[in-house]
Amino acid sequence: MAEIVIVPSPADAGILVADEIVKLIASRPDAVLGLATGSTPLPVYEALRPRLAGVDVSQVRGFALDEYVGIDPQHPESYRSVITKEVVEPLGLDPARIHTPNGALETISHAGEDYEQAIAAAGGVDLQILGIGTSGHIGFNEPGSSFASRTRVKTLIQQTREDNARFFDSIDEVPMHCITQGLGTILSARHLFLLAFGESKAHAVAGAVEGPVSSSLPGSAIQLHPHVTVVVDEAAASQLQNADYYRYAYANKPDWQGL
Ligand code: GLP
Repeated sequence: MAEIVIVPSPADAGILVADEIVKLIASRPDAVLGLATGSTPLPVYEALRPRLAGVDVSQVRGFALDEYVGIDPQHPESYRSVITKEVVEPLGLDPARIHTPNGALETISHAGEDYEQAIAAAGGVDLQILGIGTSGHIGFNEPGSSFASRTRVKTLIQQTREDNARFFDSIDEVPMHCITQGLGTILSARHLFLLAFGESKAHAVAGAVEGPVSSSLPGSAIQLHPHVTVVVDEAAASQLQNADYYRYAYANKPDWQGL
């Protein structure tokens, strides 16, 4: 099963994951990071900033999970712009090595396959950061997504468009379609870190970690992966039935095991 780490605050979660990323880059300067958007990964990127100062990150590669279809890449809320602003620029990464799925309409029919080929050519993702939506989605894999799915176009459910409307002037501006790594793509990454904070994520977290493995809750796909670390605050952990065991296991974890 996944290892569940319950931390006091999102900042603590950010430090925990950032430390792992720093270790990874030290051992593999051209590490392939799986990058996520949304508010959840922000503490990771913030914690990385001072930790990577002075570190040579010129070879680091990255693949974002998803992008809106038909959005101008220059739009401030395109995931390309968000990744540039929140990850590439503050951390000093090479923009040419950081990829987002191409949401342009002209090439959308083969954009998923192109992205899969680029990930494969990079040797796959070493460490994937994941948030989880209130519907239980990871990336933009809405309920019903196949566990075997690869990068492709999906239709956003209304709840996700409502959740993301805060980034746009109105819900009407939130695109209807997205291109997202599939659950199968995400499961191919070597180490998954799923993060969640706040009461609004408690239901999705409990379903992903302890619920039945079901495409009705796409986050439950993590139960099929051999190396997953779930990092949550107390509020997001509040519906976990075995929270005491997770605390006990983490407190008594042998040092040599690492995450
Ligand atoms: C979007 C993203 C997901 C993200 C989710 C949760 O739908 N495509 O990758 O996990 O939002 O967002 P937040 O972290 O802001 O709660």
